Amino acid sequence: MERLPEPELMDDPAQALAYARADFSEPHEAFVRHFRERFPGHAPARALDLGCGPADVTCRFARAYPHTAVLGVDGAPAMIEIGREAVKRAGLARRVALVAGRLPGADLPAGAFDTVISNSLLHHLADPAVLWGAIRLYAAPRAAVFVMDLLRPASSAHARRLVDQYAAGETEILRRDFHNSLLAAFTVDEIRTQLDETDLPFTVDVVSDRHVAIHGRAP
Ligand SMILES: C[S@@+](CC[C@H](N)C(=O)[O-])C[C@H]1O[C@@H](n2cnc3c(N)ncnc32)[C@H](O)[C@@H]1O
Repeated sequence: MERLPEPELMDDPAQALAYARADFSEPHEAFVRHFRERFPGHAPARALDLGCGPADVTCRFARAYPHTAVLGVDGAPAMIEIGREAVKRAGLARRVALVAGRLPGADLPAGAFDTVISNSLLHHLADPAVLWGAIRLYAAPRAAVFVMDLLRPASSAHARRLVDQYAAGETEILRRDFHNSLLAAFTVDEIRTQLDETDLPFTVDVVSDRHVAIHGRAP
């Protein structure tokens, strides 16, 4: 099935709220677990979360690494607003900051982060090289890089089955967005080609029936 891109930013307030209220505890806890398994003993000092959305992964990561300062960036002000409330509620405001900024071109310090993470941003990008370019720009040399995203299923029917299986009790907006996201996601082969083209020596693993993980050390 051909990729069907979706709009990049999730800046519609109803859409942002539906996403923020959905239960992503299983994949988001898995995100942190996969990171830890791939970087045993790594103690992040300064982490960057690209496309942080409502900061659920950002906060889980910060809780898992209690000595880390985490900066989240997202191009959608509606998401940043919801995310800042979540950070405050979690009592993490001293270590977790969120900034509005669209990639490419977000105003962040280059080469400043020993850890760069990103969950579910890649499939939103019209040009996937934007994510790999941001990692090259903002990661310090040898930074731990971990990206998780959806995988594009073989057919729209398969995508609908995944929506029914994993978003049965969610709102219509969320189910629609999940379906569109699956159709906009990349395949493992496409991601490997992106990494070759941007000369990033990362490993690509399929980690569930709908998720792929990409990790490695920044050049
Ligand atoms: C599916 S959400 C994922 C949010 C969060 N990482 C999570 O896992 O819950 C994708 C996020 O990427 C943001 N985004 C998409 N394109 C972007 C860009 N070019 N620059 C910055 N943020 C972007 C969207 O606004 C949205 O909040």
